[in-house]
Amino acid sequence: MSIAEGSVLTHAIRIHPFAGPLGAEVSGLRRESVVPDTVKEALRVALSTHLVLVFRGQSMSPQALLAFAALFGEPVTHQFVQAVPPHGQVTEIRKEPDHLHNFGGAWHFDLSFMACPPSATVLMAKELPAHGGDTVWSNQYLAYAMLLARCRDGIDSLLAEHTSQLAFGHGAHALSAVHPLAPRHPHSGCRYLYANPVSIRRVLGVADEAGNTLLRHLYAHAIALEFQYRHRWELGDIVVWDNRATMHKAMNDYPGERRVMQRVAVTDRRHRIGLP
Ligand code: SIN
Repeated sequence: MSIAEGSVLTHAIRIHPFAGPLGAEVSGLRRESVVPDTVKEALRVALSTHLVLVFRGQSMSPQALLAFAALFGEPVTHQFVQAVPPHGQVTEIRKEPDHLHNFGGAWHFDLSFMACPPSATVLMAKELPAHGGDTVWSNQYLAYAMLLARCRDGIDSLLAEHTSQLAFGHGAHALSAVHPLAPRHPHSGCRYLYANPVSIRRVLGVADEAGNTLLRHLYAHAIALEFQYRHRWELGDIVVWDNRATMHKAMNDYPGERRVMQRVAVTDRRHRIGLP
């Protein structure tokens, strides 16, 4: 796939880590059509290390965005959200001035109800409100590490059932999958907390009441302020995030204004979320 038109890449990328628990800005990208393997590897390492990567001033066509996303994995089709034709894997996230609710407005991991959920997601700002509309990410390595030791020991072997029905309704094409509550990340080998408030139906092998109490505790813990990075978008920004070790949420604080984003989720089929 070529990323020539409006595309990116670099022979001299620079990574500027943010102060705080996650996130870095990447500068030095150039528009070219062939991305050297060394650059792809540098971007992948940066993503594993910093979990959220910010690329300023990009403004790509959907085709170029798709090719850019392919640097991080295999683009996937969103089962429940309409694509930007003819690019089946580029979806548009649009909130119009008369919309009350926004897409992604509750804390979540993307598509955790899939057997092989996206390993990363790429999001570009197309149209922004004058103020607000930030996106917030929370570092789930830290969330896991900061649990009490007895809680960590308790969840290490637990599995949870995820379903698309909680977020996308009970249509015929509902998906569900079982994943560990504390998987090991294939790149770091470290555990992270994987408790998705908008997808988990139940914890397997635990009585409903105890499972729900545990989940409520994990959901509240996972989004502590000290685990978070909040991105204030500028037009043309692209943000890429690790969709395993971070959760995110889009702020819905710009009533009466429009916000339009384009998004590509990518998967890494060689490294599925494994059993503990
Ligand atoms: C999402 O959940 O992927 C949307 C995030 C955003 O629009 O900021």
